[in-house]
Amino acid sequence: MASKTHLTIACAFLLAASLSVAAEDGPFDAEQTYKATCFACHGTGAAHSPEVGDQIEWEIRMGKGMDTLVQNTIAGLNGIMPPRGLCEACSDEQLRAIVDFMVQSSL
Ligand code: HEC
Repeated sequence: MASKTHLTIACAFLLAASLSVAAEDGPFDAEQTYKATCFACHGTGAAHSPEVGDQIEWEIRMGKGMDTLVQNTIAGLNGIMPPRGLCEACSDEQLRAIVDFMVQSSL
């Protein structure tokens, strides 16, 4: 009985420790999320996606306005850009932050 209690306490401690590590990462990290989800296409040009770093490509896209780019990210585009860029957990605001990061990294 006693050892089981200790195990429970140890688990609770580990959980608390890992949660506090996550909290230390601070607010939403657009770059990290970009690397984890969007990079598979936008870092490689896969499926003819606009590659991050391709200045002309992103200048033309920015011509539509940031709001349109964010809307197309949320809804998906032409059946090849998946809705939310496959980041189901991302909020609209977070997706906007990632698009902003992608544009800033390209221009
Ligand atoms: C499966 C590949 C794939 C993934 C993953 C992906 N994209 Fe895309 N994305 C595309 C393709 C392809 C296009 C070009 C669509 C077109 O112009 O027809 C595109 C276009 C875009 C555009 C330009 C929209 C416009 O109006 O011109 C933005 C912004 C964008 N993606 C953001 C993101 C973000 C942010 C993520 C990650 C959260 C993401 N994408 C993940 C394939 C992908």
